[in-house]
Amino acid sequence: MNKIWFDTDIGVDDAVALLCAYQLDNIEVVGISAIAGNCDIDNVFNNARNVTYLAKKDVKVYKGASKPLYKELKPATIVHGNNGLGDVVIPTSPAPIEEKCAIDALYEKAKELNGELKVVAVGPLTNIALTIRKYPDFKDYCKEIYIMGGAGIGGNASPCAEFNIYSDPQAASEVFESGIFIHVFGLDVTLQANAYSSEINEIGSYGNPASDLLRDSLKLAVNLYKFLGIDGTCLHDACPILYLAHPEWFKGEQCGIFVEPEGKYTTGETVCDLYSNAKYEDRHCKLYTFVDREAFVNCVKECYKKY
Ligand code: RIB
Ligand code: CA
Repeated sequence: MNKIWFDTDIGVDDAVALLCAYQLDNIEVVGISAIAGNCDIDNVFNNARNVTYLAKKDVKVYKGASKPLYKELKPATIVHGNNGLGDVVIPTSPAPIEEKCAIDALYEKAKELNGELKVVAVGPLTNIALTIRKYPDFKDYCKEIYIMGGAGIGGNASPCAEFNIYSDPQAASEVFESGIFIHVFGLDVTLQANAYSSEINEIGSYGNPASDLLRDSLKLAVNLYKFLGIDGTCLHDACPILYLAHPEWFKGEQCGIFVEPEGKYTTGETVCDLYSNAKYEDRHCKLYTFVDREAFVNCVKECYKKY
């Protein structure tokens, strides 16, 4: 059983990832932390609570950082709308508001699970960096980190930086230097995890609240991708989740990855050392470069049929 902590700037593809996680047999979501990114922290916090309520799950959600360590927040409203769910409104969760801050809750859960906790981080890495700063022994209790972020080649927030890393490059740099093993699902693989508009509409025809949310919340993203000449949209954040359930669908390379915290043109670049003669055991990351798209999308379909 993969016991995971889901750190998210829930956003439309984050919502797909979480709703899949809730339906995959060998994944247990043991806690959620909200991080500002796709939209402001209050919308992210409410989205995580309300999507969990929609899934009929009882998982605690904690509020994390409202802005990056040093940069200003620049939400991705063109893809996620103003509220983070493509401006789709879903029922409000009646669950009590958790007052404990996210980094304390994350650390406590990591200690409670005594090294079995896996962190899945699909937004800016601010909460993770702040946890590592406040609790230096967090790395002893965190089994591994699985992120959607970065890219071996290219970027979507700049020519060489992906949005999650670019949003808080200092935090990302500190996480990649923490000594915790990181599975990196960057654009190299997430751009392959594309759901075609026909597949989105098929899921949207299932007639349950989750499938309705997927269909309606992805409209902005689909329209943007259409403008870019791409059919459908990429389910970026579902990659680390579906990997945990089906690693056989993915291929990757062990490597060293470090983040440029600030550069004239390279701020937020994930510098991937795939070829130097660094000792294999010193390569503290795995960069994924392939996914079986058909299997991936079919799995998303099966998860949504269960709601
Ligand atoms: O670059 C894609 C990433 O940025 C995804 O996590 C998406 O949700 C946005 O946060
Ligand atoms: Ca995200």
